[in-house]
Amino acid sequence: MPEAAIASASATPHPDGHAANPLRAGLDTDRISDPCTIVFFGASGDLFKRMLLPAIYNLRLEDILPADFALVGYSRTEFSDDSFRTYCKQQVDQYSRSGPAKDPLWSNFQERISYISGEFSDTSDYGQLKTKLADNDKKFGTKGNVLFYLSTPPQVFAPIIEQIKAAGLDPGSNQQGWTRIIIEKPFGTDLQSAQALQTEVEKVFDESQVYRIDHYLGKEPVQDIMALRFANVIFEPVWNRRYVSSVQITAAETLGVELRGGYYDHAGALRDMIQNHVINLLALVAMEPPVNSDADAIRNEKYKVLSAIRAIPDEKVAEVSTRGQYGAGTVDGQAVAAYRQEQDVDPHSNTETFAAVNLWIDNWRWAGVPFYLRSGKRLARKVSEIAVNFSCIPHRLFGEKSDDIDPNVLVMKIQPDEGVTLRFNAKVPGPKNHIRSVNMDFNYGTGFGVQSAPAYERLIGDAIRGDATLFTRWDAVQRAWQIVTPVLNAWQKTKDPSFPNYPAGSEGPPEADALVQAQHDEWRRI
Ligand code: BG6
Repeated sequence: MPEAAIASASATPHPDGHAANPLRAGLDTDRISDPCTIVFFGASGDLFKRMLLPAIYNLRLEDILPADFALVGYSRTEFSDDSFRTYCKQQVDQYSRSGPAKDPLWSNFQERISYISGEFSDTSDYGQLKTKLADNDKKFGTKGNVLFYLSTPPQVFAPIIEQIKAAGLDPGSNQQGWTRIIIEKPFGTDLQSAQALQTEVEKVFDESQVYRIDHYLGKEPVQDIMALRFANVIFEPVWNRRYVSSVQITAAETLGVELRGGYYDHAGALRDMIQNHVINLLALVAMEPPVNSDADAIRNEKYKVLSAIRAIPDEKVAEVSTRGQYGAGTVDGQAVAAYRQEQDVDPHSNTETFAAVNLWIDNWRWAGVPFYLRSGKRLARKVSEIAVNFSCIPHRLFGEKSDDIDPNVLVMKIQPDEGVTLRFNAKVPGPKNHIRSVNMDFNYGTGFGVQSAPAYERLIGDAIRGDATLFTRWDAVQRAWQIVTPVLNAWQKTKDPSFPNYPAGSEGPPEADALVQAQHDEWRRI
């Protein structure tokens, strides 16, 4: 940016504070999206109240969602339009990042909210929805554009899609505007069920109308992985087997299963986190540069690199994977119960709350570089990060005998810290040549002076604009299921007698160490 632009930007702060930071001055902030009605199936659920509704409200607050919009909640719970509006106001007050709902925006916003108390498989209830959509077009100028959002239990995804078609609400029947669908995770519970769901989706929607959500892809630091790699010249030349010794991807949580025991006990960490969020991170870190920034150019590369992941033979599962389940322990100073004591969890459960896998990418760039993936609940710290570990220096010139010269590490920090850290070696000031590792840190918050918007805001905004870049295409979802299937099968077939094998609040099961030690590596501390 020219100096003059920096000077003038810092001299004239924008009313919303944006341009006060010279790093953000002069940016194109054009984020126009189409008028539309958004229909939330599962509107009485937890995700809607905590994430989706606040996201819509804030999109409207920031003018990303146009004034010509409407929101329809659809669930089995009984609400009138009015009581649903009151409910929505309470949720915005409690969960919105911008604080309690504000007038005059709220008054205008709530007029556009309505509710249908309906069964997911009842054709007549969809008749009501059809009438509502037509009314919204007339009343609010939504121009026939409809975004369906499936945030229901996954068992009803297929029945809803079928009913959308039966009621003539499918894209093929929409003569006026566009029809799109956002589908929450999990997309299937294994390879077969994912394929079966996809068969139903394809009967009604074209792939270009389907937005499979993985909220990790909406996190700002995750979007930055591509910028770091492809908007800089210094990383790509060393981003390969010649300089990288291993890559570690961690998604660790301190939370347990909370009130989701019923779902989680049938899922486990491999399905819940590795198959989607963690494998998507791997794809972004390991893919080749896309030919351009179009959604499909990027998604082609992601699919390509996932296709190069070596299949895990059944007899190797134990060697390349580890599972764990938490016992009672202490998290953030609080005593917490064992997984098997959680609500709606089988007291003899064999479900893993920790999973680690060592994958190999058989292509020219990554041959011989281990990729370690791990995720777990009730661990010592909440941290999601990708660490690229570089090779040792080829020849040692500096340092006293007692000094270790550690290899460089580049850490992309996703949460709770958001930023990038490069660990490198420096001379300790003084008469001797001591060498120590030091950090060079970039932090989003302090760097750009703004807090990242929650992932759902970015993703819903993108779906309304028709930008599918941050959504997962079917080929990648299918591939991710293929990658984890041998491990899933093995874990399902055999009970792990060591469960629970890590105390809540720890680094995970000690057995996971063997996985990295086999390649002479060690895990980063959580
Ligand atoms: C969800 C999983 O997809 O991601 C949850 O179903 C998990 O079990 C959550 O807690 C983690 O998301 P985040 O954004 O808190 O890392």
